[in-house]
Amino acid sequence: MNPVHVGSGKVREIYRVDEGTLLLVATDRISAYDVVLTQDIPDKGKVLTGLTHHWLTTMSSICPNHLISVAAPDLPDVGIPDLPGRAMLCKAAEPLPIEFVVRGYLSGSGWREYKRDGTVCGHRLPAGLTESDELPEPILTPSTKAVEGHDENITEEEAADIAGKDRYDAAKGYALALYTTAAENARERGVIIADTKFEFGMHDDEVILIDEVLTPDSSRFWPLDEYAPGTGQPSFDKQYVRDWLDSTGWDHSPPPPDLPPDVVDATRSRYVEAYERVTGNPWAHWSSVVTR
Ligand SMILES: Nc1ncnc2c1ncn2[C@@H]1O[C@H](COP(=O)(O)OP(=O)(O)O)[C@@H](O)[C@H]1O
Ligand SMILES: [Mg+2]
Repeated sequence: MNPVHVGSGKVREIYRVDEGTLLLVATDRISAYDVVLTQDIPDKGKVLTGLTHHWLTTMSSICPNHLISVAAPDLPDVGIPDLPGRAMLCKAAEPLPIEFVVRGYLSGSGWREYKRDGTVCGHRLPAGLTESDELPEPILTPSTKAVEGHDENITEEEAADIAGKDRYDAAKGYALALYTTAAENARERGVIIADTKFEFGMHDDEVILIDEVLTPDSSRFWPLDEYAPGTGQPSFDKQYVRDWLDSTGWDHSPPPPDLPPDVVDATRSRYVEAYERVTGNPWAHWSSVVTR
């Protein structure tokens, strides 16, 4: 069977290779405020795939996952140039229609809700926390996977109804354990993982971890050496691009402004630095992993 193109996300191209196998290809596209920008960020797709591979291989004992191979000789030709490094062969799963968001720090929409109500998605938190503070313990704040538009926060009860209680409970346990282990690991390398989003799917009647894992696109990464609660934190993630876009007065509806070359370069550096800090390896290591 020749690979069949079955989907195009904001960032990924998805191919079915055979009945049980998908090829996920991370492009260099970047989206902000759910709008795909006009310029690509060179190497971004490889950083996302390299980081996902790092976490899938280092945390496979916590939870089963969809990884089959990233090795160049295993990849089918799908007509995309420069495929090794940005492509991952995966077990095809039936995705649970829930995003498993884990938050260890108070930021973004969580901080805004806490300021107003003292809660984050139904979790009552101690009084007196400030922006970017670490939470007493990580919390799970599920959201729907919107086919179009923005994801919506839902309660854990709603999420359990949608996914099925047993599946929800299994995925929740995995999500919290994965976050806790990854956050400890990253902290030792000078990176705070403030929050992240996991996806799970069903494979052979088993809940498995799918999609990208703990990347700057699915998480907030903060440099530990600059961490100072009480305000928003500088980050390795898309915040830099978002801030630049906001400085142009863009209203977040298409078309987005063109990114100047220096903003593209600075964004690329942030992605590559995230890979190097989190894995502890130089960037060149990733291409040696996939061609080995
Ligand atoms: N192992 C898998 N089996 C089935 N679907 C998967 C698997 N891994 C990831 N996916 C799906 O592939 C898509 C990834 O493409 P992406 O560009 O990230 O999409 P989005 O714009 O929805 O974030 C997601 O919809 C995700 O649920
Ligand atoms: Mg995605």
